[in-house]
Amino acid sequence: MAEDTHRGTTEPVLVIIPTYNERDNLAPLLRRLHEHVPDAGVLVVDDGSPDGTGDLADEIAADDEHVHVLHRTEKAGLGAAYIAGFRWGLERDYATLVEMDADGSHAPEDLPRLLAALDESDLVIGSRYVPGGALVNWPKRREVLSRGANLYSRLALGVPVNDMTAGFRAYRARVLATLPLKDVVSAGYCFQIDLTLRTAQAGFDIVEVPITFTEREIGTSKMDGSIIGEAMVRVAQWGAARRLGQLRRLLLRR
Ligand code: GDD
Ligand code: MN
Repeated sequence: MAEDTHRGTTEPVLVIIPTYNERDNLAPLLRRLHEHVPDAGVLVVDDGSPDGTGDLADEIAADDEHVHVLHRTEKAGLGAAYIAGFRWGLERDYATLVEMDADGSHAPEDLPRLLAALDESDLVIGSRYVPGGALVNWPKRREVLSRGANLYSRLALGVPVNDMTAGFRAYRARVLATLPLKDVVSAGYCFQIDLTLRTAQAGFDIVEVPITFTEREIGTSKMDGSIIGEAMVRVAQWGAARRLGQLRRLLLRR
């Protein structure tokens, strides 16, 4: 593995937090992050939250040099928010880019373990579905949906990852600098599957470390039917493309 050099800032790690109506969750999460990863930079990517999350983020950023805010004008999906955040971080030469939900489902207490595992790999996924991983307070129907999505994705795509939809991850910057981010069109939560597939196909090392995912106490999930629909269609398309590629190679060999 090549050593990443870190030039632009004094914070080698950037934690990217997409927000849409997370006003009551943001400050407590940033406090916990500061406690457990004091040297990390934080980038809040807010899609013009009507509840004023973006304004609150600005207020916090004014008093805390670690905190940065990227304002986008409309709710354009988790995928688009992360792509914008990755670009922001790559431009500033962060060595490590972390994805994390704003609602407290991903524990800042777990982040040092994810970052430590990145020494031995290129992408670390905080996984609910490896031994030691856990779900707390998640409605049964969400667990069934999530496990189903992972099973479907693994069968269709052949990527040996147990939690492909996980939203708590640490990427080496060079992975994201290598992947063609401009080609990523996944808007919803299938963005996570999309990037996992691209990272694996590019030959990077992926490891999963167990985390405990705790359902939010405040606010509501942004998951909806269109996000599920997009995931089903796209995974089927990626899976078909993979099978066609296999078939083509098989025929060419004969
Ligand atoms: N900027 C922006 N724009 N942020 C968004 C958008 C959007 O369109 N949609 C969601 N978010 C933010 C939320 O504010 C939150 O911080 C994070 O993305 C995750 O959204 P939730 O709505 O809390 O997701 P969830 O709890 O239903 O889903 C969890 O499980 C999914 C499936 O495993 C998350 O961990 C997802 O990351 C994961 O893919
Ligand atoms: Mn959530």
